[in-house]
Amino acid sequence: MSHVRVHNFAISLDGYGSGEPQSREEPFGHAGERLHEWMFTTRFWNEMHDDPGGSEGADNALAIRHGQGIGAEIMGSNKFGPPGWQDDPDWKGWWGPNPPFHTPTFVLTHRPREPIEMEGGTTFHFLDASPAEAVEQAKAAAGDLDVRIGGGATVIRDAIAAGLVDHVHLVQVPIVLGRGSNVWEGLEALEDGYDIEATSTSSGVTHLTFTRRR
Ligand SMILES: NC(=O)c1ccc[n+]([C@@H]2O[C@H](COP(=O)([O-])OP(=O)(O)OC[C@H]3O[C@@H](n4cnc5c(N)ncnc54)[C@H](OP(=O)(O)O)[C@@H]3O)[C@@H](O)[C@H]2O)c1
Repeated sequence: MSHVRVHNFAISLDGYGSGEPQSREEPFGHAGERLHEWMFTTRFWNEMHDDPGGSEGADNALAIRHGQGIGAEIMGSNKFGPPGWQDDPDWKGWWGPNPPFHTPTFVLTHRPREPIEMEGGTTFHFLDASPAEAVEQAKAAAGDLDVRIGGGATVIRDAIAAGLVDHVHLVQVPIVLGRGSNVWEGLEALEDGYDIEATSTSSGVTHLTFTRRR
């Protein structure tokens, strides 16, 4: 049976997956690149950017699960583009002509547009739908493979709150952002439904996994 998973979603100690304000110049707001520095040194990251080398330790071992067995992604409108991207008919996401998804990718937005087919197997589909409807469509597109909820925090916490997510991998980075988009909001007692494990690595981050109890 196909599962719904979150991978490599980086949060601050206080649970923010991005700072504010989000903009074209600063997609993560005042967080800058600090949430992702742990990943930039991994082989996983280098391979995605056609660079050689990179660390092959625990951060990498967890990071590479991101693409394994994934047949579709769901993301939020604020991950796909900066505020107001819907007013730019040429906006095709941040990632250039060959985005790193390589699957059907469903963008949740209240202002949907026609699908955009990119190089490398990524097609962006724009949906104004509930999280459950989005997961249903993504599962149909993924076939026997799993669906990844790619973020941001709003879309992840909405999907968890709706009981749709089987496995969550968060990477807690030792910074306090104080403001931004928070992954924990509204998820009181999440621990009642999931087995939680925490693994700290030498880069200074703590990987948190939540696996739904059956
Ligand atoms: N920390 C990480 O690892 C990581 C990973 C990915 C992204 N990010 C960052 O996270 C930030 C985005 O997170 P976010 O929490 O602000 O926003 P988000 O989850 O990306 O998107 C939320 C937006 O998506 C649309 N949306 C959500 N649910 C919908 C539904 N059911 N139907 C229709 N539209 C729906 C709405 O936008 P509209 O009303 O405008 O359509 C909503 O405001 C960005 O800065 C991004 O770069 C961080």
